[in-house]
Amino acid sequence: MQYLNDLFDEEHKLREQTKSIRLIKKAKFLDKKNLHTYEWTEQIRFPPHTSKEEICSLSFIEKGESVVLVGSPGTGKTHLATGLGRKACENGYEVRFYRVAHLVEELEQALRLSKLSAFRKKLEKVDLIILNEMSYLPFSKEGSELLLQLISEFYEQKSLIITSNLEFSQWNRIFVDSRLTAALVDRLNHHAHIISYQGESCRLTNALSKRK
Ligand SMILES: Nc1ncnc2c1ncn2[C@@H]1O[C@H](COP(=O)(O)OP(=O)(O)OP(=O)(O)O)[C@@H](O)[C@H]1O
Ligand SMILES: [Mg+2]
Repeated sequence: MQYLNDLFDEEHKLREQTKSIRLIKKAKFLDKKNLHTYEWTEQIRFPPHTSKEEICSLSFIEKGESVVLVGSPGTGKTHLATGLGRKACENGYEVRFYRVAHLVEELEQALRLSKLSAFRKKLEKVDLIILNEMSYLPFSKEGSELLLQLISEFYEQKSLIITSNLEFSQWNRIFVDSRLTAALVDRLNHHAHIISYQGESCRLTNALSKRK
């Protein structure tokens, strides 16, 4: 009996590992960054009722909530987003990682080729979508609307992690229409953990210490 139990356990572990490797591949992360190499510094400010432990438990995915990471360049937003995404894959969630500018291009192209519903269908089974670099690049009106439409569809059904250099009050700079921006910010404010970063770029600190 013991032998069979061990055999089943081993088989189960192997299947879980294979599944998580497959999910990580499908997520299309930019790099291999993970939570083990992430340093939780004093620079990170959590809103009330949110903690590092809560975010890392990924309970926000189960609840269909989102996480917005806001701060200056090089402060570790993409690293944290990737680490959380990778852990989500290891826990069996379907994840997609997008640079926002690329996602908007893909949406515009899908619209031109009348393949928008096929594109949306591809995302139907996804539990967590990471939108990296919702930043300075302004979108066309059409691009803004497509992105907003997609986010509105996900709202309360799936989870999002968004990284941005800009605070909500400046998102008018990215989206052309201030009415649409207000609608997006309102949705995110309602259901998101907004984590902000204070302080200097890690890239800059690393470069300076190497020079020394
Ligand atoms: N807290 C941290 N722990 C470990 N590494 C970090 C941390 N913060 C930043 N880094 C490292 O510094 C580099 C820059 O971080 P990252 O790309 O995540 O910044 P970012 O906030 O996304 O910047 P940008 O706004 O320019 O996209 C990466 O190599 C990252 O691994
Ligand atoms: Mg980044």
